[in-house]
Amino acid sequence: MSIRIAPSILSADFARLGDEIAMCVEGGADWIHIDVMDGCFVPNLTYGAKIIETCRRLTTLPLDVHLMVVAPEKYFDSFVQAGANVITIHQETAPHLHRQVARIKELGCAAGVTINPSTPVAMLEDVAADVDMILIMSVNPGFGGQRFIPRTLDRIRQARTMLRDAGNGAVPIEVDGGISRDTIGSCWKAGADTFVAGNAIFGALDPKEEIAALRALCTHQV
Ligand code: DX5
Ligand code: ZN
Repeated sequence: MSIRIAPSILSADFARLGDEIAMCVEGGADWIHIDVMDGCFVPNLTYGAKIIETCRRLTTLPLDVHLMVVAPEKYFDSFVQAGANVITIHQETAPHLHRQVARIKELGCAAGVTINPSTPVAMLEDVAADVDMILIMSVNPGFGGQRFIPRTLDRIRQARTMLRDAGNGAVPIEVDGGISRDTIGSCWKAGADTFVAGNAIFGALDPKEEIAALRALCTHQV
């Protein structure tokens, strides 16, 4: 199974976004994670198509766009056009989840689905065969730098079993929130392979080394 480290630019210095992304690329990051928040589904506001487009000009790495917004379907077309490679939507904001997953794929983008820490994993059962990724939130979404919720490990295991049962066992399981040297290894062991990290990477003395260190903590524990 391949390991993907996806730095979240939420914790980057936006005055130096070009340098911050270049640093991620040099450090061997696999994806760039872009958190879109609307101040409604989550109590924080961030950015939209303009920043996706800027990141697209700064790197060829896949852009992993996490939509924490109500009515996410309003943004699919413009975000794909701006350069998104993966669009992940919250089950809690998508009453027509099956249709919306299909629509993201129709646009030529990988479709991820995600759930808040209090939403049962089983809520994704009926789209498990159709998705390109499941993201298990390991904090309540809205802010960087929060503490990892330990129950996440169980939820990763449940998601991996659910995907296998649906005949879609090879798709990535991503974890987002509180990922650090202390938490990444156990998530990997539980069955996750794609790791978002904001604070751990951008808050490190040497972010490039941190990306390598996080990755090493996965490979060493198989
Ligand atoms: C939280 C966001 C995360 C956030 C993670 O709502 O979805 O992507 O940037 O930040 P850290 O790694 O600092 O917990
Ligand atoms: Zn995120």
